[in-house]
Amino acid sequence: MSKNKINIHLIAAARPNFMKIAPLYHALKSEGWVEPVIVHTGQHYDLNMSDVFFEDLGIPEPAIHLGVGSGTHATQTGKVMMSYEKVLVESKPDLIVVVGDVNSTVACTLAAVKLPAHSSELIAHSKTINQTNLNTTYELGRPLVAHLEAGLRSFDRTMPEEINRLVTDALADILWTPSADADENLTREGISKDKIQRVGNIMIDSLEMLRDKIQAQTTLNDFSLKLQEYGLVTLHRPSNVDNPETLKNLCTKLIEISKKAPLVFPIHPRTRKNAETFGLFAELEKAEHLLILEPLNYVRFMNLVFNCRFALTDSGGIQEETTYLGIPCVTLRPNTERPITVSQGTNRLSTLDDLEETVDGMLAEKIRPECNIPLWDGKTAGRVVDSIKGFFN
Ligand code: UD1
Repeated sequence: MSKNKINIHLIAAARPNFMKIAPLYHALKSEGWVEPVIVHTGQHYDLNMSDVFFEDLGIPEPAIHLGVGSGTHATQTGKVMMSYEKVLVESKPDLIVVVGDVNSTVACTLAAVKLPAHSSELIAHSKTINQTNLNTTYELGRPLVAHLEAGLRSFDRTMPEEINRLVTDALADILWTPSADADENLTREGISKDKIQRVGNIMIDSLEMLRDKIQAQTTLNDFSLKLQEYGLVTLHRPSNVDNPETLKNLCTKLIEISKKAPLVFPIHPRTRKNAETFGLFAELEKAEHLLILEPLNYVRFMNLVFNCRFALTDSGGIQEETTYLGIPCVTLRPNTERPITVSQGTNRLSTLDDLEETVDGMLAEKIRPECNIPLWDGKTAGRVVDSIKGFFN
């Protein structure tokens, strides 16, 4: 590590994080004054939940790997905190960037902000931080913490992600938001406006960066699918897949829907394990119009998104990607932290009871609207780099 460069940790942990750090890594790498370092907490560890994304996104293997693996929320969060604290003390970053809302996001934030104050030897560049931009009264004896994708709220505290978002945003020094509703959420919570910078949606950067490669994929043909005739399913939220009755009900509905439009379901490990444990997997696998796949890499999966008739999901990222591409999306959740995808996009929420009706209504619609959400333009990483420049001069 060069002593003269600003040392930035980009924290990645779980599948949706890799698409968020990659554009920023590339943008920072092309700057002479900064050294981006990828830290992987190991929350996701299967080859097809982690490694394949590094290859697709052109990012190097993580320089630091914490290898924490799975566990209960407290175990996973605690293990990340303990491992990352040691890394912080040893590698003395100037800034850490956490993304999204997974357990590792909040764990790394907590570890960093609780480093002993006033021990400026913990960071290499403490004197170069332009604190006036932050308008804070405390002295930094620790790295700055920036949250990318800050301010999203589902207002549902039964979701582990909502807790992670609330805590991370309350503690981070810099809050990079994707949309105006996120700014409003933060100011309503009493967060100083000086900390908030609207930079746009970083996921769209990855999509645009790899658009040609995505379109060149043969995923559609490989699985004998027809353009815009199938529905793409992804489901992994504990509220949908952890309860045996709910999952049984959900599987029955998917099989029914697949009779109207064939479904493709790259199945998340959490969902597969539960379906197997509850004795539901065999029935899913043998359904004639429902194709179960292993999790796919980014470009192959996105090829299925680009070409589908609709998506049926409980993922956060897919709500955004479908809105950006003008593809109808049904989100199987009572709420969303991304309401802009409903108010200005193609997303609609559904309960399990209403699922078939919601899908029928959507299938009857023909329009693919254009997305005009400001700053969802593939240029978010550049704006983040400009923001970082403002803090270090
Ligand atoms: C996590 C995030 C969620 C995000 C999702 C994306 C939290 C609280 N949840 O949920 O916000 O939307 O990632 O996928 O941080 N497993 C494997 N292999 C892996 C990873 C997980 O088999 O590589 C299995 C394990 O049985 C594990 C379970 O999946 O216990 C759940 O993994 P975990 O990371 O705890 O939560 P996700 O459901 O993946």
